[in-house]
Amino acid sequence: MQTLQVDLGERSYPITIGAQLIDQAELLSRHIRGKQVAIVTNDTVAPLYLERLKRSLAGYSVTPVVLPDGEAHKNWETLQSIFDALLAARHDRNTTIIALGGGVVGDMAGFAAASYQRGVSFIQVPTTLLSQVDSSVGGKTGINHPLGKNMIGAFYQPQAVLIDTATLTTLPARELSAGLAEVIKYGLICDEPFLGWLEDNVDSLRALDQQALTEAIRRSCAAKARVVGADERESGIRATLNLGHTFGHAIETHQGYGVWLHGEAVSAGTVMALEMSRRLGWISAAEQQRAVSLLARAGLPVVPPANMRAEDFLEHMAVDKKVLDGRLRLVLLKRLGEAVVTSDFPREVLESTLNANYDSLAQAPST
Ligand code: NAD
Ligand code: GLY
Repeated sequence: MQTLQVDLGERSYPITIGAQLIDQAELLSRHIRGKQVAIVTNDTVAPLYLERLKRSLAGYSVTPVVLPDGEAHKNWETLQSIFDALLAARHDRNTTIIALGGGVVGDMAGFAAASYQRGVSFIQVPTTLLSQVDSSVGGKTGINHPLGKNMIGAFYQPQAVLIDTATLTTLPARELSAGLAEVIKYGLICDEPFLGWLEDNVDSLRALDQQALTEAIRRSCAAKARVVGADERESGIRATLNLGHTFGHAIETHQGYGVWLHGEAVSAGTVMALEMSRRLGWISAAEQQRAVSLLARAGLPVVPPANMRAEDFLEHMAVDKKVLDGRLRLVLLKRLGEAVVTSDFPREVLESTLNANYDSLAQAPST
């Protein structure tokens, strides 16, 4: 078992990583103040892990809240159903909400915790690779709007993050790959040696080697904790965590939520950010190809959807949260391992990036 810390003064919290952690009652109880707990989960994860988590909460009054599964349900209606369940079971301000599931459950349960009776305690128990390396850490919570991803929400930090790596054994392979997009992201934005490690270990990760997974999760969470500790509210460096996300969110919104997985859209979006960085002369064609090959080896799409034109991207990108005073800001790479957030690029470079042909990158042999 390994423990990291997110350092945010009085809102600091531990991230604990290890196998079978959901069976360790004490890891939960030390973060629970009152007697009431609500476990927010979904109808895929509940049959797998809800009973085990409930057993670890013996002695508490537990309300399970089982949501419909899927990004398409990350909306007001589902959020309202969480409040309905909390009020029906008379949860008071001392209650603790536990999110058991992937990023969709975590983001919605966190937003419910931020707003129920103006804020109650919250524990993240992430069960997808993506949520273990990214969404459960850092306090971004929220729901989608039909016009834009994650447009309604709040910054609200959990009391603790409990990462049970053994839950990944039931995760579909496509979802594991989607999580690897965010793992590779950390290498690209701030940890070039980690890219080398990933090149050596991507096959073990896809084969669910627990030691490799623990190391990838530990390194990813350490990078995220560092960035969030330096810039909790995203006034600067935290925006670099969104490499590929501006292009990716456009893909997710255009295709319809849930058609492309978040990590898949981030992967294709990252390839577009790499293309733009190369066109600006910041990275070489060989560096671009190295990163694209790693994403492809992780089982991820590296070509944007064929049905999206440049105008489609521009329309969706105009509502990105990084747009300030009407100016689009993008996360690009100065080199592998160093990201910048910038609005300082010629419009023609963005347009040529959106119109580029990505098929040849995808067809190059993997290194
Ligand atoms: P998800 O929550 O939809 O989970 C993916 C699928 O795996 C779902 O069908 C889920 O039910 C299932 N599942 C979860 N755990 C499982 C397990 N152990 N075994 C079998 N099936 C399991 O998707 P995700 O990729 O975890 O998260 C994506 C969401 O996270 C998006 O909404 C995205 O916007 C959000 N996100 C948030 C942040 C943040 O900082 N808050 C960061 C990145 C992504
Ligand atoms: N996933 C981006 C962030 O947490 O800031």
